[in-house]
Amino acid sequence: MTVFRVRWVSNIRIAWVIIFCMKNRTIFHVIEPQLVIEGAGVLLRRSIAPRQSNDYDPFLLFDHFAFNNPLEGPIRGFPTHPHRGIETVTYMLEGTVRHRDSLGNQGVIGEGDVQWMTSGRGILHEEMPQRSASGNIYGFQLWVNLPAAQKMSQPRYQEVSAETIPVIEKDGATIRLVAGEVDGVRGPVTEIAASPLYMDVKLAPGSRLVYPTPSGHTVLAYVFDGTGEFSGEAIESVSMVVFEDDGDQVEVKTEAGVRFMLIAGAPFKEPIFPYGPFVMNTREEIEQTLRELREGTFIKP
Ligand code: FE2
Repeated sequence: MTVFRVRWVSNIRIAWVIIFCMKNRTIFHVIEPQLVIEGAGVLLRRSIAPRQSNDYDPFLLFDHFAFNNPLEGPIRGFPTHPHRGIETVTYMLEGTVRHRDSLGNQGVIGEGDVQWMTSGRGILHEEMPQRSASGNIYGFQLWVNLPAAQKMSQPRYQEVSAETIPVIEKDGATIRLVAGEVDGVRGPVTEIAASPLYMDVKLAPGSRLVYPTPSGHTVLAYVFDGTGEFSGEAIESVSMVVFEDDGDQVEVKTEAGVRFMLIAGAPFKEPIFPYGPFVMNTREEIEQTLRELREGTFIKP
């Protein structure tokens, strides 16, 4: 934010007028999601994936489940697999995900629900998508990194049902706020190391949203329906927009209507060593993780 102080002289007083000039973040680049097959044969659109270069710190991965046409037959899902050192955030718009883990947790992530799972030192879980009545499955999974000090923390779940997610209506925008703050309203997911913003934004035709973003935070927008102008650039769905850290806010305008996930978080600026479903800080920690899996000591009491 740029602050100009203007000295204002009159007969009776001298006042300081502060003019706030907010600047839009420009777009760094736009990622076209790539088709990948994961789990036991689930087709996904993947925008970002864990890499040692850690380009989107603190975010590691973003997957979009949107290809489960009923003609494709049964959904195979993601049978039992481990995680360590990360958080997985599952948000379903259509269909559900049946979930259970090695610690005895189980449940169903329903339409509109969010599961924010902090794997910490480790869980083994399965995630099995189920079709909606219309036959569709539509949702997202985001991976958020954990800082070194929390990578071996106790696993934790924040299960958020659709009806407890605040919906903020503002100037043609309908915002479902999972984590972060909008006009004094806080999302239900809290105490996350990356201080994340995670919200589903639907802009009506002819509307505009301006949202302030802290300096130094990584900001992404996953545009999954319609078209909009992001910082003056026309963006069509489906695209992941990565913003530069050169401004104080993001501005989105739309003529025809647009829907996107707005995601932001504070980077940890630590080295990372990703390996499959694990993201640790060093190769040695990954080797230790694989050794524990082989020896049956991965899950800690
Ligand atoms: Fe998983």
